[in-house]
Amino acid sequence: MCGIVGYIGNREAYPVILNGLKRLEYRGYDSAGIALYDGSDIQLCKTQGKVSDLEAKVEKSITSKGSLGIGHTRWATHGVPNDVNSHPHYSNSGDLVIIHNGIIENYGSIKKELINRGYTFTSDTDTEVLVNLIEEIKKQEDVKLGKAVQIALNQVVGAYAIALFDRNKPDEIVVAKLGSPLAIGIGEDEFFVASDASPFIEFTNNAIYLKDEEMAIIRRGREVKVRNIKGDKLVAPYIQELQLNLEQIEKGGYDHFMLKEINEQPSVIKDTYRGRLLADQGIIKLGGLEDYISKFTNADRIIIVACGTSWHAGLVAEYIFEDLVRIPVEVEYASEFRYRNPIITEKDVVIAISQSGETADTLAAIKLAKEKGAFVYGICNVVGSTISRETHSGTYTHAGPEIGVASTKAFTTQITVLTMIALRLAKVKGTVSQSDYMLHLRELEMIPSKVEKALQEEDNIIQIAEIFKAAKNFLYLGRGYNFPVALEGALKLKEISYIHAEGYPAAEMKHGPIALIDEQMPVVVIAINSNHYEKVVSNIQEIKSRKGKIIAVVTEGDTVVKEMADYIMEVPATPEALTPLVTTIPLQLLSYHIAVMLGRDVDQPRNLAKSVTVE
Ligand code: F6R
Repeated sequence: MCGIVGYIGNREAYPVILNGLKRLEYRGYDSAGIALYDGSDIQLCKTQGKVSDLEAKVEKSITSKGSLGIGHTRWATHGVPNDVNSHPHYSNSGDLVIIHNGIIENYGSIKKELINRGYTFTSDTDTEVLVNLIEEIKKQEDVKLGKAVQIALNQVVGAYAIALFDRNKPDEIVVAKLGSPLAIGIGEDEFFVASDASPFIEFTNNAIYLKDEEMAIIRRGREVKVRNIKGDKLVAPYIQELQLNLEQIEKGGYDHFMLKEINEQPSVIKDTYRGRLLADQGIIKLGGLEDYISKFTNADRIIIVACGTSWHAGLVAEYIFEDLVRIPVEVEYASEFRYRNPIITEKDVVIAISQSGETADTLAAIKLAKEKGAFVYGICNVVGSTISRETHSGTYTHAGPEIGVASTKAFTTQITVLTMIALRLAKVKGTVSQSDYMLHLRELEMIPSKVEKALQEEDNIIQIAEIFKAAKNFLYLGRGYNFPVALEGALKLKEISYIHAEGYPAAEMKHGPIALIDEQMPVVVIAINSNHYEKVVSNIQEIKSRKGKIIAVVTEGDTVVKEMADYIMEVPATPEALTPLVTTIPLQLLSYHIAVMLGRDVDQPRNLAKSVTVE
């Protein structure tokens, strides 16, 4: 949902900002822009398209580049993606220049008021309204930029991470945050501003993550001053040492981040359980959980809130928790939950799952659950993210940065965390036998090598992708633990290949979707050894007799489905509760290769953005 970058210091700002925008492009990529200031002349360049289009345009149009600048890569909310709506935006006087990630909900009424006062607007954006509101306040109240920003932000409703500067203040950038992330990198006599730390990781390991309703005034060669937007209090900023390194945010020889991230799963799953799962000793220890175990074991029910792929991980957890812990679980789309006056009590535990930790709907669901008195536990990947701070406690997945827009390693590491939580609670509650408990611990420890094995099917999967790349529709079927995997497989295909795909519980097929099946329809069936094996075999027969093409995910050594399916993708055997961790791998690879063969922009599929910070 838009990436923002800023720089103020002694070096040339342009390369820092351009590189930063390339790293943040996963957040939005329908247009990009940059404004550079050398103390006498502001140079602004923006364009519809990607950061590479911006780069080409800058080379032609910008001469003096300066050591202060801001840049933006956009995911359109207000106004179509075009040059005019791209950021940065000037105020009417041409003195203020702003970039913004988020939405100003009451921009319409503010705009009307500003038009009455003689302001004109060139774009359709809420951002241009905000910068002019700041300008008007600065003029009317005769205050400095920082104060004007503060007053303006107290008048707006919505979400924002903003950075702006004033032509009359060549040594200052003002930033503020509510709902969208904003990090300030602290170098030696230089400062960086960005939506995440990736744009400045080679320059400094020290960063301040602004909290909601905080703003900062960043002056060249001085200390960063952080204050609360609501009051006048200065806040002592917490300077965090970053754990990120450059290697983690580069492709490392892979053609795409998505392929890198798919292949990282064996190692990141290990990172997720490292130090937390001691299988030999029969121990699971999750720092964030230990003090709150009784909240879970005494809970009437667990409500899981999430969106997209994280919601699918939540569905897998529903099976694990009900199966192993015997606590009723409801899994909710955060976007629906927050608006339907849900019944939540103090006896409920809410688990919020989010890779980015910034998803607006999930965040709103958390706030609602907290208001109603529920205990809220977060499962996030991005350390220090808003959701990780807003929840009462939680567990990080430690998957490392996920840059491909389609989520892969986040999903498997979320399931790994959820499985560990379920096993820990089951042990405390006594709802799992000691032998089953030990079996699952040992098997969980073996998942990385099984994922490794599943990845070795890639050449076979490439051949299958070649055969089906021209299909217009796909059906994905699974049962039990693998029904959410079918949903996730279909989502992966849709979002990166733009082929229509639907996931269904295999047995539901006969209640409608079976009408779609003909010889043109590839049906991906997860038909591994499980409690449902025989039933899934019957479902496969039903598809075959209607001439559908079967691509089956089977357990290594399977003979029955192998005979019936047109194509198979093998995964190693593992206890049923852990199967989603391996069955999802061939589906990720299948989507990836089909999308590559179709020439799609795999890491940045159309219309999407990695971190959805708007409703
Ligand atoms: C799909 C995908 C999205 C996200 C969803 C939630 O591949 O990436 O569906 O899963 O937008 O995002 P997080 O997990 O960051 O809350």
